[in-house]
Amino acid sequence: MNLILIGPPGVGKGTQAELLEKRIGLKTLSSGVIFRQEIEAETDLGRLAKRYIDHGRLVPSGVTIEMMAKRIRSAEARKNGFILDGFPRAIDQAVALSEMEEDMDTVIDAVISLEVPDEILVSRLSGRVGCTKCGAIYHMTNKPPKRDWVCDNCNSPLFVRSDDQPDAIQQRLQIFHDTTMPVVSYYEGMGMLTRVDARQEPEKVYLDILAAAAARESKASQ
Ligand code: AP5
Ligand code: MG
Repeated sequence: MNLILIGPPGVGKGTQAELLEKRIGLKTLSSGVIFRQEIEAETDLGRLAKRYIDHGRLVPSGVTIEMMAKRIRSAEARKNGFILDGFPRAIDQAVALSEMEEDMDTVIDAVISLEVPDEILVSRLSGRVGCTKCGAIYHMTNKPPKRDWVCDNCNSPLFVRSDDQPDAIQQRLQIFHDTTMPVVSYYEGMGMLTRVDARQEPEKVYLDILAAAAARESKASQ
C-alpha cells in the first residue's frame, strides 16, 4: 500500500508516519526529514535547503522532486509500500508524482488529508521537540519524553527545529493555504482524497487513517 499524508505544519504527519511504519511496515519518505538529514550532513543540497527552510519557505520543486524520485524508486520503498509525508506540496510536484507512477507502474492507493484548525497547530509546533538521531517526535506538554531533552527510544539528545519559530510558523501556514491546498483539491478532484479529523488523539487518528486506506483499497479492487 502506498499512501500520501497531506496537511498543514504540525497536523501530525510525522507522528502518524512513525506509527504506520512501526506497526504495518510502510517505509516513511518524509521530504522534511530528508532535508534535515542533508543539512546535518552539510551537503550542497542541505546548504541550499537550509536557506529556505529556516524562513519557512518551500525548497524549489526541481531539487525536491529529484530527491524524492530517488527514494520512491528505491527497493526499500517498493518492498512493503511507502508513506509520503510532506510531498507533494505544490501542484508541479503532484504532476511529477503522477508521471513517476506511470513510469514505475506503481500507484498511490490513498491520499489522506489530516485536518486541524490553525490555532491548534501553533500550540502543537511551539511545544514540539524531536530526536536528533531516530527522528521520534515529542511535545513538551502533550507527549513529554521520560527524561528532559533525552529520547525515550535511543537516548539521543532532543532538539527544537529551526523553523519552529513564530515568524517561520506563520510563513509555513500561509504557504500551506496558498500552495498546498490546491494539491488537496487536485486529489479530491481525482476521487483519491479522504479527510481525517486530526484534532483527535493520535491513536484515533491512526485508526481513521487505516480505515480510510482499507476502504480505498477495497474500492480499487472492485
Ligand atoms: P516538514 O518537515 O514536512 O514540515 P511541515 O510540513 O511544516 O510539518 P511538520 O513536520 O512541522 O508537522 P507534522 O505534520 O509532521 O507534525 P508532527 O507529527 O511533528 O517540512 C519542513 C520544511 O522543509 C518545509 O517548510 C519546507 O521548507 C521544506 N520542505 C519539505 N517538503 C517540501 C516539499 N515537498 N517541497 C518544498 N519544500 C519542502 O506533530 C507536531 C506536534 O504535534 C508534535 O509535538 C506532536 O507530538 C503533536 N501531535 C501530533 N499529533 C497530535 C495529536 N493527534 N494530538 C495532539 N498532539 C499531536
Ligand atoms: Mg513532520
